[in-house]
Amino acid sequence: MTPLLEVEDLRITFPTRHGTSHPVDGVSFSVARGELLALVGESGCGKSLTSLALLRLVPPPGQIQPGSAIRLDGTDVLGLGPEELRSIRGRRIGMIFQDPMTSLNPVFTIADQIGESVRAHQKVSKRAARARALELLQEVGIPDPTQRLDVYPHQMSGGMRQRVMIAIALASEPEMLIADEPTTALDVTVQAQILELLDGLRAARGMAVLLITHDLGIVAGRADRVAVMYAGRLVEEAATAELFARPSHPYTKGLLASVPRITGAVTRLTPIAGTVPAPTAWPAGCRFHPRCPAALPRCATDDPPALPVGNAHRMRCWLAEAGRA
Ligand SMILES: Nc1ncnc2c1ncn2[C@@H]1O[C@H](COP(=O)(O)OP(=O)(O)O)[C@@H](O)[C@H]1O
Ligand SMILES: [Mg+2]
Repeated sequence: MTPLLEVEDLRITFPTRHGTSHPVDGVSFSVARGELLALVGESGCGKSLTSLALLRLVPPPGQIQPGSAIRLDGTDVLGLGPEELRSIRGRRIGMIFQDPMTSLNPVFTIADQIGESVRAHQKVSKRAARARALELLQEVGIPDPTQRLDVYPHQMSGGMRQRVMIAIALASEPEMLIADEPTTALDVTVQAQILELLDGLRAARGMAVLLITHDLGIVAGRADRVAVMYAGRLVEEAATAELFARPSHPYTKGLLASVPRITGAVTRLTPIAGTVPAPTAWPAGCRFHPRCPAALPRCATDDPPALPVGNAHRMRCWLAEAGRA
């Protein structure tokens, strides 16, 4: 069966004053129907641009390079005209972001905004759209949904606003939802509730979810698979249980060590030394080698390909070949 989404050798470039920037530089992955794939990496690794490319929303002057391929259910997204593109954006693929306040209109009620999304996809009366908005509020777990229909975004908490954004995205019955750092602005308990909601919707609707996050800690027990991104590329990919049992790339191990752990009353975390380099000047060889505690001499000069390290588990690291992962 064809995967719902296939991305092959995705490359995005920007012209800059410091030369051409390559923030996404040869990314390939696929998402099956009803699957929850987590795309994880530090800020600046190219996660958001990758997700924007799926909807052809890379901001100009950024360009998706020839040779890149994006297929939705076998259809070449990069070859679509404007009309067909509209049938994908916000319809077959929905999207939610970190800050719901920037996407919600402060002067319209929740019913208006969900209703508008309903009517953008279905020819129904305003009354029917309002009824559908109520159902969607129920589906995303908003308490007292009838009372919430007529409130304004600023009258709701951050977590409730994110639920409203999800309801708006669900109005078109999308086959896939892209959630870009959907819980980063929320406190930990609310984060967990939103992630549980996404997982529940995936199960109930058979909807695929691409969950983008800088926090590897939140994907355990929720994602089916994890793709770890560093410096414009995927550096490790595996089923979630496998990845947590055998994290292999030194970058993934670093991300895991930097997940806050509660030990007694103290929160401990060890950040990865150094910072993500600039996409105008990726390091030669393995892009992680300047920060890597396990780098071999060849890592400074030879760029590692994706190598197998286990069952459907791959990483771009020479340690895979040396059998030292
Ligand atoms: N509109 C843009 N113009 C130029 N560079 C950009 C633009 N958007 C993002 N970038 C660069 O691309 C890199 C990856 O960005 P992004 O995809 O937002 O990363 P992430 O979501 O992983 O934090 C960053 O270095 C960022 O500066
Ligand atoms: Mg981002």
